[in-house]
Amino acid sequence: MQLHISPSLRHITVLPAKGFRELCKVKIGSRRLSYRMVFYSLLFITFLLRFVFVLTAVDAIEGENKCSSIGCLGKRLGPRILGRRYQPNVPEVIYQVLEEDTSPNEVEIGPQTLQEFVAEMKTELPDAKTFAIKLKTMVTFLEERTRTAKIQEYLYRHVASSSIPKQLHCLTLRLANEHSTNANARLQLPSAELVPALVDNSLFHFVLASDNVLAASVVASSLVQNSLQPEKVVLHVITDRKTYAPMQAWFSLHPLGPAIIEVKALHQFDWFAKGKVPVLEAMENDQKVRAQFRGGSSAIIANNTEKPKVIAAKLQALSPKYNSLMNHIRINLPEMFPSLNKVVFLDDDIVIQTDLAPLWDIDMNGKVNGAVETCRGEDKYVMSKRFKSYLNFSHPLIASNFDPNECAWAYGMNLFDLEQWRETNISQTYYNWIEKNLKSDLSLWQLGTLPPGLIAFRGHVHTINPFWHMLGLGYQDNTTIGNVKAAGVIHFNGRAKPWLDIAFPQLRPLWTKYLNFSDRFIKSCHIRET
Ligand SMILES: *[C@@H]1O[C@H](CO)[C@@H](O)[C@H](O)[C@H]1NC(C)=O
Ligand SMILES: *[C@@H]1O[C@H](CO)[C@@H](O)[C@H](O)[C@H]1NC(C)=O
Ligand SMILES: *[C@@H]1O[C@H](CO)[C@@H](O)[C@H](O)[C@H]1NC(C)=O
Ligand SMILES: *[C@@H]1O[C@H](CO)[C@@H](O)[C@H](O)[C@H]1NC(C)=O
Ligand SMILES: *[C@@H]1O[C@H](CO)[C@@H](O)[C@H](O)[C@H]1NC(C)=O
Repeated sequence: MQLHISPSLRHITVLPAKGFRELCKVKIGSRRLSYRMVFYSLLFITFLLRFVFVLTAVDAIEGENKCSSIGCLGKRLGPRILGRRYQPNVPEVIYQVLEEDTSPNEVEIGPQTLQEFVAEMKTELPDAKTFAIKLKTMVTFLEERTRTAKIQEYLYRHVASSSIPKQLHCLTLRLANEHSTNANARLQLPSAELVPALVDNSLFHFVLASDNVLAASVVASSLVQNSLQPEKVVLHVITDRKTYAPMQAWFSLHPLGPAIIEVKALHQFDWFAKGKVPVLEAMENDQKVRAQFRGGSSAIIANNTEKPKVIAAKLQALSPKYNSLMNHIRINLPEMFPSLNKVVFLDDDIVIQTDLAPLWDIDMNGKVNGAVETCRGEDKYVMSKRFKSYLNFSHPLIASNFDPNECAWAYGMNLFDLEQWRETNISQTYYNWIEKNLKSDLSLWQLGTLPPGLIAFRGHVHTINPFWHMLGLGYQDNTTIGNVKAAGVIHFNGRAKPWLDIAFPQLRPLWTKYLNFSDRFIKSCHIRET
């Protein structure tokens, strides 16, 4: 005999031992009726019937959603299941014990499976009270185990989407090794004679911030391959200290000429070397606050009245992925590229499918940030984002400053007019609000760089055609392939990144198209097409 509780805690199945044909399955349909109560009643009735399992219990229990106590439930269900042949005589003491709240340390060690429970009851023939206590102990134990499994499941899903798969790790190591052993993997990028191009405002400047070599290579290849004037493309790849060598090795050995690629680590920027970098300070504070957020991860997990999903979300808020420097760095573009007038900033989870030069013809009407809006469009699921989707409007500071229905826009493919930007205090506003959020214990928003971005760029956004940026390929797979192919830039925002196992299989080829699977680095790290 086995007892199974579904991870959602909404189904209970009792699988009888061999020889019994029926199994008992209960769906907890009603919100009024606590799961635990149905559970006890079910077990209870099961035992009263001497292990004869009845399917009718399902209908009976689902129909009885007005009972608020187990006593009521047991009494009403009993006769029904027994076909009114006799009234089960359930001692009141059993209901009493089952209804009492158990404090955690009161839970003694008892049977942990239904099997053990039945065996024990058969041999010990306990009194009603002991029976009830043991039953309750077992149920509590099973419940806790199911809950833990559920949290684990959410966490695994999160880890699967945020940790580095071993192939990517391998690629980074292989390239780092190549960097130290092969002079051709250490070329200055770009070469000295091309350096003036880096500040030439007649060229098309793209900025990509990434610590993922494979992802960066796809963005770069797709950008250059689809460009009608690749000789006018300048891609500035910004990375962190640890990824610099692998990134340099990759682009040294895989040049994309005539396009110009610059590879630069954050610490190599003058602006960075000069010392006070507000984004770093903000990040550091952010990190500290997050580590302590609601008592840290152990306190979050310890709260066993909280729903598994909520716990997983809270743990996620602590995750460094959501406050990585690479994400925040775009707010410093004007200082990082002091000579440039306009740049297109690209996320590393996008693929470019068209020539992007026409972006430079867009009249920004004096605005700073050219972005696609995310509150209207054919795709009702992806395109339903307003300020209220990102900011906590229960907080007076948010409610008194912003309009919940203001349309949101997306990061990932943005045209920034740096000249205009330098005339504003957008970056300062960004820091001020990050500060406010930290001071209010992350209650203004919890995740990501978009919420402070929405605030800082308010009034400075110029809406561009959705063709330039199709979103959502990482969190839903019901986009029609035809539409995806027709978009100029596609964005795998969401968990299902194309470089992970959990990528949507029908969307992945649009990304892998820009990888060369015959390449020796790709091959030796077992990065495969499917
Ligand atoms: C546990 O979570 C519940 C439900 O959100 C909350 O009311 C309670 O304050 C939390 N307990 C602790 C100790 O954080
Ligand atoms: C800068 O921000 C302040 C408020 O924080 C505002 O009053 C001022 O007008 C802004 N300056 C510019 C140039 O936008
Ligand atoms: C939203 O703000 C209210 C008011 O300050 C706060 O009680 C609540 O916890 C906040 N919500 C979140 C998810 O932080
Ligand atoms: C797309 O998928 C999501 C989640 O899988 C779903 O919630 C949404 O309703 C779907 N949208 C459409 C238009 O089918
Ligand atoms: C792919 O890589 C192989 C091996 O390095 C090379 O010979 C081939 O030209 C590459 N193909 C393309 C399309 O770049």
